[in-house]
Amino acid sequence: MSKVLIVYGSTTGNTETTAEYIAGVFSERGFDVTLKSAEDVSAPELGNGDNVLTLLGSSTWGDDEIELQDDFIPLYEDMDNANLKDRKVSVFGCGDSSYTYFCGAVDAIEEKAEKLGATIVGDSLKIDGDPDRDEICDWAGKVADAVQA
Ligand SMILES: Cc1cc2nc3c(=O)[nH]c(=O)nc-3n(C[C@H](O)[C@H](O)[C@H](O)COP(=O)(O)O)c2cc1C
Repeated sequence: MSKVLIVYGSTTGNTETTAEYIAGVFSERGFDVTLKSAEDVSAPELGNGDNVLTLLGSSTWGDDEIELQDDFIPLYEDMDNANLKDRKVSVFGCGDSSYTYFCGAVDAIEEKAEKLGATIVGDSLKIDGDPDRDEICDWAGKVADAVQA
């Protein structure tokens, strides 16, 4: 069974809920899903070759500048050790479009993963406000299609 790792950083639960919806879609498609909070993951685990896809999710905090969710910051800072070269990665997160950098954490993670040689699968998912189950499941389905193709 193909393995998928989903890692999320979430303060008020929105990105966690998003990650759970994504996990549900991949499980239904027959993937072996591991879902973890960023605080329980070390960077080298992200690029574990057993996984056909690593999904990284963080909400965005701050105002004048982009801040990743607290639990995700150590992971982001250690991403150079994540062995992401040639690994498939998808990025998601929750934010609020009234802020200057809407879902800036999603952009920052995607940029760093790309710089480290990861292949980004699909357009990143940026949730404005409360997580919408249909929107998230639709996105996850497309990402799963791309990985299975
Ligand atoms: C103090 C503060 C700063 C925030 N800064 C941003 C921001 O810069 N960009 C953004 O898109 N959302 C921002 N948000 C919105 C949160 O990212 C949003 O509420 C999100 O759903 C939280 O997700 P979580 O529950 O997974 O942590 C901010 C919210 C607060 C309270």
